[in-house]
Amino acid sequence: MNFKVLIFLMMVAGLFSCQRQPQDPIDAKIEDLLAQMTLEEKIGQLVQKNGDHQNLHDLVRNGLVGSILNEVDLERIYELQRIAVEESRLGIPLLIGRDVIHGFRTIFPIPLGQGASWNPALVEQGARIAATEAASQGINWTFAPMIDVTRDPRWGRIAESFGEDPYLTGVMGAAKVRGFQGDSLAAHNAIAACLKHFAAYGWATGGRDYNTVSIPYNDLHDLVLRPFKKGVEAGAATIMTAFNEINGIPATGNIPLLRDILRNQWGFEGVLLSDWNSVTEMVVHGFMPNDKEAAYMAMQATVDVEMVSRAYETYIPQLINERRISEQQIDDAVRRVLRLKFALGLFDNPYRFKGEFPPLLAPEHLDAAKQMATESVVLLKNQDVLPLSTNIRNLAVIGPLADAPHDQLGTWVFDGKKENSITPLQSLQEFGKSYGFDVYYHRAMETSRSHQITDPAGILRSAGRADAVLLFLGEESILSGEGKCLANINLQGAQEELVRLVATAGRPVIAIIMAGRPVTFEKVKPHMDAVLYAWHPGTMAGPALADLVFGRVSPSGKLPVTFPRHVGQIPIYYNHKNTGRPASIETFVHLYDIPVEAPQFSLGTTSHYLDYGFKPMFPFGFGLSYSSFEISNVLLEKNQLKTGENLRVTLNLKNTGNMKASEVVQLYTRQL
Ligand code: NOJ
Repeated sequence: MNFKVLIFLMMVAGLFSCQRQPQDPIDAKIEDLLAQMTLEEKIGQLVQKNGDHQNLHDLVRNGLVGSILNEVDLERIYELQRIAVEESRLGIPLLIGRDVIHGFRTIFPIPLGQGASWNPALVEQGARIAATEAASQGINWTFAPMIDVTRDPRWGRIAESFGEDPYLTGVMGAAKVRGFQGDSLAAHNAIAACLKHFAAYGWATGGRDYNTVSIPYNDLHDLVLRPFKKGVEAGAATIMTAFNEINGIPATGNIPLLRDILRNQWGFEGVLLSDWNSVTEMVVHGFMPNDKEAAYMAMQATVDVEMVSRAYETYIPQLINERRISEQQIDDAVRRVLRLKFALGLFDNPYRFKGEFPPLLAPEHLDAAKQMATESVVLLKNQDVLPLSTNIRNLAVIGPLADAPHDQLGTWVFDGKKENSITPLQSLQEFGKSYGFDVYYHRAMETSRSHQITDPAGILRSAGRADAVLLFLGEESILSGEGKCLANINLQGAQEELVRLVATAGRPVIAIIMAGRPVTFEKVKPHMDAVLYAWHPGTMAGPALADLVFGRVSPSGKLPVTFPRHVGQIPIYYNHKNTGRPASIETFVHLYDIPVEAPQFSLGTTSHYLDYGFKPMFPFGFGLSYSSFEISNVLLEKNQLKTGENLRVTLNLKNTGNMKASEVVQLYTRQL
């Protein structure tokens, strides 16, 4: 039996410090370069331009750009690096950044789905593959992992997160850092990781992207900053600031957060980068009167590199003249950028991408993507219908996501291609051919948002003669991701109607939901005999889902986030405090059961909603299996822990079912 154990424990780690050796030979090289650099060239290292910026070659030639994002054409990257090292005065190579969020060409499940695997080794392997593919195309820096803890499924970028738990997020984030950066950043297939968004971006009020964040100090530390600390300890080379303001101060100019906590308390010596225009957006926030003051504030907060907006290049010279910032501050920022370039081995070999690489979409990459897609799927309901037998005669495959090669890839996919996707329909048709059953397919709705069901009569005919109906529901990829927030997180368009329609055929209905967030489907859940929650599974969605449906492998995913029954319950999360009046079944009376003119205090007075109670649709950590497990002999090594101490917990885990399966063992502690 194969099982994974993940233990939840709160530990207070010692203060992290990454002191450098004073005699580091790289230091000498950096100082040597710095001594030769003009102020203009120094500022250039702090400037990041988008790949389509005008006159980029000239800017690079003149030493006015230190890094570029969103350039993925190998020829153009080669040319830019060549100009930087051969034609610029000091020959400083370029950092080439890209959002490699869940794969480069081989697309893995969205990060939220990866979180559901609870398998950091697999997450690390996925990041390693993504790094290898990206590095082969000239990328040496990725803006990932995103480790924003969030409790709000309305927020579109929940798709890019590992969910609501700081511990799980920290473990997964650290795994990604190790995967991207490998054993040595200098390896030709390693790329620098970037923890983002520092901080509290996932705490946006109302789940509306970029929105203001108010967060109590203890929540900031216990929930939001914890994964970042772990990521720093894992050696993340860079960190990106967030767009939002936190308790009145935009993250990009937030001295207490960036300078005091990140730099001084945690000892982070890597590159700190703004988000896209987030330096000058401090003016839009109303925090700074103009771009010059925004540059000043970001500099004071130790933001090294400005992404895209132009406040640094425009105003730092003046700010230095006016002695408001010192050249020493600029030097420190430039040192950090140069150090990263040295660490990546770019001074020795700016053309690292010319090394030996496996091809994009190498078979082992696709295998790993399939494995991750398989382990990310969560079985939410199963009334003895799954797995299906391959002895069936007819299978109905219905719904807008069954054959959606683009949408199964999910959000934040820039370099993956839908032509490489294997859709569930394709894989199920293949199974049909091998095992001799017929597959009847109806897209039913043009998109996940359509209000029209096409050919309802045909759908009913196919459903009626099928041994089982696989209903592929969910969201197109464009409904989650940056700026893609929803106030209504139910199944969109006519999907609920489609569920009801199909259910009238009286055949087993298996819903397979692909989405970038927790979708609420409380009302139609009773019509579903089984539910597999697949997130957006990536390139290999089809093979992974077909294996799960037919029981070649048992689902083992567990939810990394709470699923509300109704959007109005948000925020609803597992690690909530007890309150003085915790909700209970005994005292809860539903809205419709309240007697007419009931006296004010005749009903329970505990923490719940009259209409939706206090329970979610599915709790954090939930996930069924085709097998069953028994946990016994749970032993804690000691019953008292000092700060910083570890606790060993042992137990026996037995697969008591009759198929091979994996289980995640979860242990929760409560902090009083
Ligand atoms: C804005 C996003 O917030 C950030 O996560 C991303 O890395 C940059 N754009 C660059 O694409």
